[in-house]
Amino acid sequence: MLVTRQPTLRHFWYPVIPLGELETGPKPFELLKEKIVLWLDGAGKPVAVRDRCCHRSARLSQGKVIDGNIRCPYHGWSFDGAGVCVKVPQLTHGLIPRTYRVDSYRCEERYGYVWVCLDEPLLPIPEIPEASDPQFRQIHEFYEVWHCAGLRLMENSFDNAHPHFVHSSTFGVEQEPVPPEPDFFEETEFGLRMKYILPVFNNTVQKQNLQMEETRTVRISEGTWYMPFIRTLKITYPNGLIHLIFTAATPIDDRSSQLVQFCLRNDTEAEATAESVIAFDRVVTLEDKAILEGTDYDVPLRISKEQHMASDKPGIIMRHKLAGLLKERGEGERGKDEG
Ligand code: FES
Ligand code: CO
Repeated sequence: MLVTRQPTLRHFWYPVIPLGELETGPKPFELLKEKIVLWLDGAGKPVAVRDRCCHRSARLSQGKVIDGNIRCPYHGWSFDGAGVCVKVPQLTHGLIPRTYRVDSYRCEERYGYVWVCLDEPLLPIPEIPEASDPQFRQIHEFYEVWHCAGLRLMENSFDNAHPHFVHSSTFGVEQEPVPPEPDFFEETEFGLRMKYILPVFNNTVQKQNLQMEETRTVRISEGTWYMPFIRTLKITYPNGLIHLIFTAATPIDDRSSQLVQFCLRNDTEAEATAESVIAFDRVVTLEDKAILEGTDYDVPLRISKEQHMASDKPGIIMRHKLAGLLKERGEGERGKDEG
């Protein structure tokens, strides 16, 4: 599946940029190969329109925000958040023609990020109850480009066979390569949910982060996949500590994804500093990144195209669900082989 060849993927919400980044002016982003510009309007609300002026195609993201509207850097036409041209400095009398406009997109703020949906949404933005629970603090972790397909990243999160190899220096137990059976598995309207207990190793940083002396522990894990490229992994440790990771692989183009990751924890800065929590997750995510960037970005939805084992069930369900959705919408899978 090549993400830019599947119009259905334009019907989902994706987090594209931390809200705070818009405080210093308009910012460009490429979502499913669509160049967009984001800024804060007069009410301080994020807005998104096509990053191409309707006059001579200049990039609006090179312009300035003035009174909540974006002013094109080329001849100074200004557009509001709905993409309507509201000012033409060269026009001294008469109305601005209605055709002076650019496409605008649905845009919302959630969890400290700006979310965009390019077309009529099929699902709402995922609801994460812990994000509004005062027992939890939010730690922003990573915002960076990964050169891999979002689906590779999604299935990796539910793949219990990889930690023993990929994460053997952080938490995987190389001597115990047989992955645990899930305790609970459910397909949902929006994706899937899986619960399992994963025996892990605690290195020095993690002992401190988990406020734990032991070298071995278990992760009581609940993974949720939100179609197409968002997951949460809620890890509860035996001492009651919860480390919930939110990860989105926002599709930039066929070969790259914007990784957006934050975590929610029910402990305090005094118990584990944000810096130390990020430091551990940094090493773990880079271990995954190194492998995932080596995989083929054209992830085949057809099961027969790759080989599988029992622990690949979540990845197989993801393929089935996405293929089913594409079929339902009369689209079908479009990959390199589909011409
Ligand atoms: Fe934007 Fe001319 S190209 S105002
Ligand atoms: Co991993």
